[in-house]
Amino acid sequence: MTDRLRIALQKKGRLADDSFELLKKCGLRFAIRGGGLLARVKNMPIDLLLVRDDDIPSFVANDAADIGIVGENVLVEEQLVSREGLDAEITMRLGFSRCKLSLAAPNDGDINNTEQLNGTRIATTYPGVLGNFLKERGISAKSVEMKGAVELAPSIGIAESICDLVSSGATLEANGLSAFETILESEAVLIQSGRKLSADKQALLNKLMSRIDGVIKSSE
Ligand code: PRP
Ligand code: MG
Ligand code: ZN
Repeated sequence: MTDRLRIALQKKGRLADDSFELLKKCGLRFAIRGGGLLARVKNMPIDLLLVRDDDIPSFVANDAADIGIVGENVLVEEQLVSREGLDAEITMRLGFSRCKLSLAAPNDGDINNTEQLNGTRIATTYPGVLGNFLKERGISAKSVEMKGAVELAPSIGIAESICDLVSSGATLEANGLSAFETILESEAVLIQSGRKLSADKQALLNKLMSRIDGVIKSSE
């Protein structure tokens, strides 16, 4: 019976590319083929599960994967929206894919601070983090959920502002929006549940984490 360490990773996107690169620098040999959702690492007992980022925290919590690499923003969101609470916590910060979850509104509009959001609509893919923030600040606004292309919301008239990820700022700029408040800072993180791993898997994970640490330090 093989006891392979399962790592859940985002299948495509910026964080996915950086995650593959990190694992390759750690010496893992694997090939990602178009459409394949499971990649076996050739030189170590590790399998990579290539999934949607928002599924990663629950896969780790429910034992479908031993560990995951995901944006902290996704972990926090899934923890907030999961009713029973998720058994998934940060084991290690990875330092790449840094971004901010920010509030932004049209450059030429009336909204340029958080208090002005009262009574308005805010488009977002992060209703959990946004709702939590609004509650803390005592602001009553309606969140309009979108799966992507959130920056389009003000110009098509479905919301007055947005709450979305900002990395380079190019998407905000291209859509005539300016950020006026950051509600979460995020980076890629390695996550795990509270379950104990088998001794073999734990030893392998320790080796992997010390290599990751080396890669991070050498790039600083
Ligand atoms: C992400 C994010 C922002 C954009 C930020 O979108 O949701 O829209 O990137 O990056 P920037 O500040 O460097 O422009 P993504 O490309 O993943 O598309 P989606 O939100 O439509 O899924
Ligand atoms: Mg996404
Ligand atoms: Zn987006």
